[in-house]
Amino acid sequence: MSSTSAYVPGLEGVVAAQTRMSKVDGLAGELVIGGFKLEAIADKASFEEMVYLLWHDRLPKASELADFKASLAELRALPQATMDLLKAVSSKQLDMMDALRVAAGTLGLNAPKDGADEWNAKRLLAAFPTIVAAAWRLRNGQEPIAPDAKLGHAANYLYMIEGKAPSEARARGLETYLNTVIDHGLNASTFTARVITSTASDFVSAIVGAIGALKGPLHGGAPGPALDMVVEIGEVGRAGEGLKKKLAAGERLMGFGHRVYKVRDPRADVLAKAAHEFYEADGDMKLYNLVQDVEKVAIRVLEEHKPGRNLQTNVEFYTALLLHGLGFPTDVFTPTFAVGRVGGWLAHCFEQREAGRIIRPQSEYVGVDDRAYVEVGKR
Ligand code: COA
Repeated sequence: MSSTSAYVPGLEGVVAAQTRMSKVDGLAGELVIGGFKLEAIADKASFEEMVYLLWHDRLPKASELADFKASLAELRALPQATMDLLKAVSSKQLDMMDALRVAAGTLGLNAPKDGADEWNAKRLLAAFPTIVAAAWRLRNGQEPIAPDAKLGHAANYLYMIEGKAPSEARARGLETYLNTVIDHGLNASTFTARVITSTASDFVSAIVGAIGALKGPLHGGAPGPALDMVVEIGEVGRAGEGLKKKLAAGERLMGFGHRVYKVRDPRADVLAKAAHEFYEADGDMKLYNLVQDVEKVAIRVLEEHKPGRNLQTNVEFYTALLLHGLGFPTDVFTPTFAVGRVGGWLAHCFEQREAGRIIRPQSEYVGVDDRAYVEVGKR
C-alpha cells in the first residue's frame, strides 16, 4: 500500500487524537483544562479534584472526593520489591527520571485481573510521589519516609521529601503547580502513552513509556538552567549586561520562547501568582523580586535580539522559581513535573481505551529497493 499524504517532520500540525482533556490555543495564549480556563481552577482545586475531573469529565461531589482521596492514600506505600529495587539502584546514583522509570515498571505487580486499568491508574498516580521522594532520600543516604494518609497528595509529597508536614502555603503552592502541568494537549509523552495504550497494552507500560519521553531535555524541559541563569545574575539591576552577553555568544535564554505559544504562556502567569503568594507568606521576596527583574529585562533584550518574534516567558521560568522556593532540589524538578503530568497521561489512557483504534501511521520509504545479496565472504 503506498501513502498519498505528505511526510510532516515532527508531525507538526498533524491532528492525531481527539481529546476532552485540554485545549491549547497558542495564538490567544489560552489553556483550557477539563473545560475550565487554567486560571479559573489551578489555584483553587486540590490535585485529587483535578485528576477526578479529567478521569470522570466532572468535578466530584464531597463524598466522591473523600472516597477518591482515601483510595489513593491506601495505594501510596510501595511494594517491598519496588523499595528493594530503589535501594539497589540508589548506590548507582541513577538519574532521578531513570529511578522513577524502573520503579514505576513494578507498580502493576499486584494488579487484579478484573478492573486492572482502574487499579493500575490509581496505583501509579498514588505511588509516583512515594517513588520520587524515596529515590531522592536514598540517593542522599537518608531513609525513605512512609506516606502519611492524613495528608493530601501534594502535602504528603512534600512531607516525604522533607520529613516534616509542610505549611498550608507550601502545600497550596505545589498543588497549584501540579494542577498547572497536569495536561497540555498532545505533547510527546502524552502521545507516547496513547500509542502504547492503543495496542491494547496495559497502563503501567504506557506510563513507563511516557516517563521515557518526558525525560528528554527537549520535552521535560530545563527549569534547572533557568534557575541557574537567575542565580548567576544574582542581583536586581544586573540582568541587562549578563543576558546580552549570553545572546551575543549564541546562547538561548532559558524560560523564554515556545513552539506553540506565540504570546505569553498562560501557565507562567498562574505560576508567577502562586510563587508570589508563597514567597510573600515565607517573608523573603528577594529571589522573587530578582526573577521579576530578570524577566522584564529578558523580554526587552529578546525583542532587540529578534525583533517582532515576540519571545515571551514560558512555563519553565516560573516553575524554577516555584519549585526552588518549595525546597525541591533541581534534580527533582522533572520528576515533580511527572508527578503532576501522570494524572493527565492516565486520563488520556482511559480516553484512548474508549477510542479503541490502534495508532499506526505510515512511513515513507527513502531507501533503495534493488540491492543484490552478496555472500558474507565475498563482500
Ligand atoms: N533565547 C534566544 N533566542 C531564542 C529563544 C530564546 N529563549 N527562543 C527562540 N529564540 C530564537 C530562535 O533561535 C529563532 O531564531 P532564528 O529564527 O534566527 O533561528 C527565533 O528566536 C524564533 O524561534 P521560534 O521558532 O519561535 O522558537 P522554536 O519553536 O524554534 O523553539 C523553544 C522553541 C522553546 C525550543 C525555544 O524558544 C527555546 O529554546 N527556548 C529556551 C529553552 C526553554 O525555555 N525551553 C522550555 C520550553 S517550555
